[in-house]
This record gives sequence, C-alpha cells and structure tokens, in this order.
Amino acid sequence: MRLANKVAIITGGASGIGLATAKLFLQNGATVVIFDLLHNDSVAELEKDFQDKAAFFEVDVTNEEAVMKSVNKVFEQYGKIDILFNNAGISGIGKIHELSQDYWNKVMNVNVNGVFLMSKYVVQKMLNRGGSIINMSSCVAEIGLEDRVLYAATKGAVLAMTKSMQVDYASHNIRVNALLPGTIYTPFVEKYLSTAENPEETLNGIKKRQLSDELGKPIDVAQAALYLASDESKFLMGSPLYIDGGAVFGKKI
Ligand SMILES: NC(=O)c1ccc[n+]([C@@H]2O[C@H](COP(=O)([O-])OP(=O)(O)OC[C@H]3O[C@@H](n4cnc5c(N)ncnc54)[C@H](O)[C@@H]3O)[C@@H](O)[C@H]2O)c1
Repeated sequence: MRLANKVAIITGGASGIGLATAKLFLQNGATVVIFDLLHNDSVAELEKDFQDKAAFFEVDVTNEEAVMKSVNKVFEQYGKIDILFNNAGISGIGKIHELSQDYWNKVMNVNVNGVFLMSKYVVQKMLNRGGSIINMSSCVAEIGLEDRVLYAATKGAVLAMTKSMQVDYASHNIRVNALLPGTIYTPFVEKYLSTAENPEETLNGIKKRQLSDELGKPIDVAQAALYLASDESKFLMGSPLYIDGGAVFGKKI
C-alpha cells in the first residue's frame, strides 16, 4: 500500500505501460483516474476489480477544453490530485526529409503539447499541497536511433521540460521526474512490428539494443513509476530514471 490515500491521473492508461501502471497503483491503494481516447475491456476489468477506486475519463490530451474540464472534474470528485503520470504518447517514424508537416505536428501535439496541457491544469491543483508528476520520456531522448528524429525530438522536449518544471515547482513541494524506458513490449511496439518487412528480424534487431537481449515488460516501467509516485522517492527531483536494460549506458563489444 505504497500509495494509500493518493489520487492519481494516468494519461494513456488504457493500454501498455499506462495500463500496467494503473493496475499497480490501484494494488498499492491509490485511486486512479485513467485519461485516454477509448474505454476498453482492460479498463472495464480494472473498474470491476477495484470498484470506485478506478475511473475512466474519455480525454484527448491535445484538447485543451477537454483536459481543463476533466482535471476540474477529478478535483471536484476526489478533492485533490497527488500524482500525474503524463504517459500518453504515439510513435513517429521516418527520416526528416520524408516527414510531412502534418505528421510532425500530430506527433508533437500528442507527445509534447499533451504533456504541456495536462501539466498546466494539474499543477494548478497541486500548488497548495504538492504532488508528484511523472513525465514519459524515452531512452531515445539520449541516443541516436535510425528513423526516430521526430519521436526523439518529442521525448527530448519532455525530458527538458521535466528539468525546468522541477525548478519552477520545487518550492511548492511538487516533484517532477522523467521515465526513460528502452524498448518495452506493448501494443505500441506490436504495431510497429506489424509494419516491418520482416517482423521477426526486426524484433531480433530491437532485442539487441538492450544488454538484456530481451525487451522490457510494461510492469518493469510500472514499478519505476510506482517508486516515483510514492514518497519513497522524495529526494528525486528533475531526474531521468532509465529502465532500459542497459540500452543507454551499456555497450556490447
Ligand atoms: N513501448 C515502448 O517501447 C516505449 C519506450 C519508451 C517510451 N514509451 C512511451 O511510453 C508511453 C506509453 O507507451 P506504450 O508502449 O504503453 O503505448 P500504447 O500504444 O500501448 O499506449 C499508449 C496509450 O496512449 C493513448 N493515447 C494516444 N494518444 C492519446 C491522446 N491524444 N490522448 C489520450 N490518450 C492517448 C492510447 O490510446 C493508448 O492507450 C508513450 O508515451 C511512449 O512514447 C514507450
């Protein structure tokens, strides 16, 4: 019960890492409100298992009015917001000369503007009592990776935002940290593999990025999010936390 009596919002909590985190937070005593585009069977299962501790709001994190109204509703309903996990994100694949401006703007909008809007409205509710904000970056913010210029730009922006946000809100007892996962096996990666010419070969290539020779699992990242959300990490401020099987700092010869 590491999050007893805490109220958390998790964006993109209906799938993958966000879903695993929602379940782990609930198991640790938190009330969890998922903000995502679509309700699905996994969310329904959480609502059934955890009753009124689990809730779903249909929110597109790029829609300012929806974000503002939904954050206000959570605050009215639960009286506070202790944790914000800015997890919703989409991939962006291609080399810079191949990308259309629409595609560039779309990925920037979800991955960066979404973090801006969610943080803008949730911070207003945290200013008086503090809280923990967890921003989803990626190890791609730190390493060059083929065809990821757009995705890397978004995740690098999120990492940079994390550090400046931390400075701005430290005096309000709000901690802001970032997660930098390596490749985690989720629908996000499954979708990418389904578009590859040779999915098996591509998967084997991705596995080799990690020292572990395996992809991470959503629960690996959820455990890190739990630590950042809990008071156990009270001395972590503006930090990048790597959960990447050694992808950033390790090198196989
Ligand atoms: N899977 C990986 O290898 C990996 C690695 C590093 C970082 N990440 C990041 O982790 C986060 C979660 O990824 P995942 O692998 O669990 O992906 P996923 O596709 O399984 O889940 C992402 C969720 O975000 C939601 N979402 C997308 N756009 C949204 C919007 N505009 N508003 C609200 N919700 C929206 C989707 O509906 C989905 O439920 C993303 O930010 C991703 O960039 C993933």
